[in-house]
Amino acid sequence: MGVKTATGAPARLPGADATGRGSLWIWLNKRLPIGEFIESQLIGYYAPKNFNIWYFFGSLALLVLVMQLVTGIFLTMFYKPGELTSFDSVEYIMREVDYGWLIRYLHSTGASAFFIVVYLHMFRALLYGSYRAPRELLWLIGMLVYLALMAEAFMGYVLPWGNMSFWGAQVIVNLFGTIPGIGKPLVEWIRGDYGIADATLNRFFALHVAAIPLALLLFVMLHLVALRQTGSNNPDGIEIKARLGPGGKPLDGIPFHPYYTVKDIVGVGVFLVLFALVVFFKPTLGGLFLEAPNFEPANPISTPEHITPVWYFTPYYALLRAVPDQRMGALLMLLAVVSFFFLPWLDRSPVKSMRYRGWISRTALALFVVAFVALGYLGLQPATGAYVVLARIFAVLYFAFFWLMPFYTLIDPVRPVPERVTYHAH
Ligand code: HEM
Repeated sequence: MGVKTATGAPARLPGADATGRGSLWIWLNKRLPIGEFIESQLIGYYAPKNFNIWYFFGSLALLVLVMQLVTGIFLTMFYKPGELTSFDSVEYIMREVDYGWLIRYLHSTGASAFFIVVYLHMFRALLYGSYRAPRELLWLIGMLVYLALMAEAFMGYVLPWGNMSFWGAQVIVNLFGTIPGIGKPLVEWIRGDYGIADATLNRFFALHVAAIPLALLLFVMLHLVALRQTGSNNPDGIEIKARLGPGGKPLDGIPFHPYYTVKDIVGVGVFLVLFALVVFFKPTLGGLFLEAPNFEPANPISTPEHITPVWYFTPYYALLRAVPDQRMGALLMLLAVVSFFFLPWLDRSPVKSMRYRGWISRTALALFVVAFVALGYLGLQPATGAYVVLARIFAVLYFAFFWLMPFYTLIDPVRPVPERVTYHAH
């Protein structure tokens, strides 16, 4: 309870306006519409009241994005790009710079955390049909974010100039050589030399610290603008804007602030605990987040025993090696990513959310997840014998999810969707 005047009205602090806000706030808002922004975009933005934990991952992705930018800026202060300096400068950061080890592990763990969070965020969209009309563009922009994120992670991995950095770059850049006609000159153009060399490392540095982060920020901003325009989907896949209350606000909506800003803090808390456990106790996560060969300097005459990318690329890497022909493998890899772009038009189900879909769609999604995880595992193994056979089986399952979707979503026995969202107060 606040202090009251003799008339019973709340007492006003010196310099405060009727809302109790101070003179600095008033000064600021006359010059920059911060209050107006919070009012219209956070308090005035009504989100469905039935969000569950799957809705934590968007705000967590934002958190990781900021964390990567901040730790990246500090790393750049000490990192020296160059064939002769990169590896040693990272060692210097780890051993000599105050808390350099922490900044580096926050950044390397942050890269994996980014993909964990984004994969869960994308899975939520598959679960509730969030990619479907009217959110196709939101989904497509999300895919651009994903592509930018992959480019950012790949180039960042080359920068320490460890042996896996070098050979990973070798494998990935050479994939461009499979493009008919322009392949060879294109590879040379990307490398800026006849092999992966100083020029390659320097341009990857420029792209990693400036160009791609800018693109990433732009795409994320557009992603949020598109989200604001359509409004969020929800676990029931019902459009809450279809039922407005007397004030013109959705009956099944609640103000994003304070309800979801506070709820998101819970997600942030849990995330930070898990994140800190990895950073402080298992920063390499047994070679999954930072691979052992990358603690040795790049060596152009000695390949690591198994050249494998970091875990978040291994499902695609398994597809690359599932077929004997490299050109065909590269094409499969490309198709695996591109397929996601078509989802809004492949899905013909009359309902959005898995909650009301039948066993066919549910099984298809479950098999897709199994295939994605299994391919991820196989991408970490040598491409020999049974591993290749398994990779082919899971490749078929992976693509069947997308390209059979127009058929199985039509015959799937769906259940009736309720009029209003289902919500159980705690
Ligand atoms: C840096 C990466 C990303 C950030 C910061 C980000 C941020 C967000 C935020 C804050 C939301 C609203 C909260 C929520 O629904 O969780 C959201 C919603 C959404 N995002 Fe992202 N996102 C990112 C990447 C992606 C990617 C890669 C995709 C898919 C290709 C995607 C697809 C979607 C969809 C479909 C929604 C609406 C979901 C719904 O309403 O059910 N996002 N995003």
